[in-house]
Amino acid sequence: MNPITPAKGLKGVVVDTTKLCLIDAERGVLVYRGYDIHDLATHSNFEEVAYLLLYSKLPMRKEYECFCEQLRQNRSVPDVVVEIIERIKDAPPMDVLRTAVSALGAIDPDSGDNSSEATLRKGIKLIAQLPTIVATHERLRRGLKPVEPNPKLSHAANFLYMMRGKPPTEEEAKAIDLDLLLHAEHSSNASAFAVRVTASTLADIHAAIVAGIAALKGPLHGGAAEAVADMALEVGSPERAYEYVREKLARKERIMGFGHRVYRTEDPRARHMRELAKVLSEKSGDKRIFETLLAIEEAMKPLQSKGIYVNVDFYCGCIYYFLGIPKDMYVCMFALGRIVGWVAHALEQYNDNVLIRPLLHYDGPTNLRYIPMDER
Ligand code: ACO
Repeated sequence: MNPITPAKGLKGVVVDTTKLCLIDAERGVLVYRGYDIHDLATHSNFEEVAYLLLYSKLPMRKEYECFCEQLRQNRSVPDVVVEIIERIKDAPPMDVLRTAVSALGAIDPDSGDNSSEATLRKGIKLIAQLPTIVATHERLRRGLKPVEPNPKLSHAANFLYMMRGKPPTEEEAKAIDLDLLLHAEHSSNASAFAVRVTASTLADIHAAIVAGIAALKGPLHGGAAEAVADMALEVGSPERAYEYVREKLARKERIMGFGHRVYRTEDPRARHMRELAKVLSEKSGDKRIFETLLAIEEAMKPLQSKGIYVNVDFYCGCIYYFLGIPKDMYVCMFALGRIVGWVAHALEQYNDNVLIRPLLHYDGPTNLRYIPMDER
C-alpha cells in the first residue's frame, strides 16, 4: 500500500471554484467579484458591496435603493427571539448570536425552501437582522431596553444607533461601514468553508450560517481581534512592545493578529484598518493603544522573512475601542460583515452542489476483539 500523506488542515487543497473573491497571496491582493478591495474601500459602501457579492454585479441606482429598502424593512427580530436573548443574556455575545440565528431558522416560514429565491430572501433578512441581535443583546445585558431600528439610517449607522440609543456621528458610521465592507468576504476561510460544508448537505441557509458563526468564534479565526486587544492592554505602552514580543516568541507562543493561512505578505485589508485606527486615536487624543500596536508591528518585522505580517484583525480592536464597542463583542463585529460572504457562499454551493465529504486516513488499531464489560 502507498504511504498516505494527509492534507492536514486542507492546506493548499483546492476544493472547488468560486466567482466570489480572488486572493493573491504573494502580492497581497484581494478582489471581490473582479473589483479590487482598495477601490471598493475608497469609493463604495457596505450595502453596495453586499449587493455586488450577492448579485454578481454593481447595482444601478434603482436596484441599490431597492436593496437598501429591503435591508431596512427586515431589520427587526420577532419577540420570541428577543425573549430568548433576554433569557441567555449573560452568555458570550457570539453564543447569543449563534443561538438567536438558530431560533430565527426554527421559526422561519420558508425554512424548508432551499430554492435560490428563498435562500436569497432569507439571506438578505439575516444580513439585516444580525446587527439587531447583537445590539439588542448588548442593551439587554446592560439592563437597558432594546432600541427599535431606525429606517432613516444606513446599515452601519443604525447598528451603532441601536446599540447606543443615539445616532452616531458621520465619521463613526463611516468607520463601521468600512469595517463591515472589509470583512464581507474572504474565500474559503474556516467559517465560509463550514457554511459550504453545511449547505452541501442541503441543510437550509440558517443551519449553514449557524455553522459559520460557530467556526468564526475561535481565536485562530474571528476571535483574534479580542486577543489582540488583551495583548495591547497587557503590553501597556510602546516601550514594552519589543521585550513582550521577544519573550513570547522565545516561548514559541503566537502573537495574535499576525500570520495568515493564505497571505505571505501584508493582508491588504490591514492597511485600511491601520489608517482608520490612526485617525480615530488621533481624534480621541489617546494615542497609547495605537502606538503600542505600531510598536508591536515593528517588533514583529523579523518574522516577515517567514511571510508573517499583520492580518485584518490586528487593528480592529483599536477601532472598536474608540467606537465604544465592548471587547467580547469584537468577534460579533466580524460576523456582521462576513454574513454577506456566508450567504453568497451558500448560494454558490446550492447552485452547483456536490456533497463535501473528504476522507480521513485511519491510523488507529485494527483486529481488536470485543471483551464484555464485566471481563475488561
Ligand atoms: N506569531 C508567531 N508565529 C507565527 C504566527 C504568529 N501569529 N503565525 C504563524 N507563526 C509561525 C508558526 O509558529 C510556524 O512557525 P514554524 O514553522 O517555525 O513552526 C509558522 O509561522 C507557520 O505557522 P502555521 O500555524 O503552520 O500557519 P497556518 O497557516 O496554519 O496559520 C494562523 C495561520 C492560524 C492564522 C496563524 O498565523 C496564527 O495562529 N495567527 C494568530 C491568530 C490570528 O491572528 N488569527 C487571525 C487570522 S486572520 C482571520 O481569521 C481573519
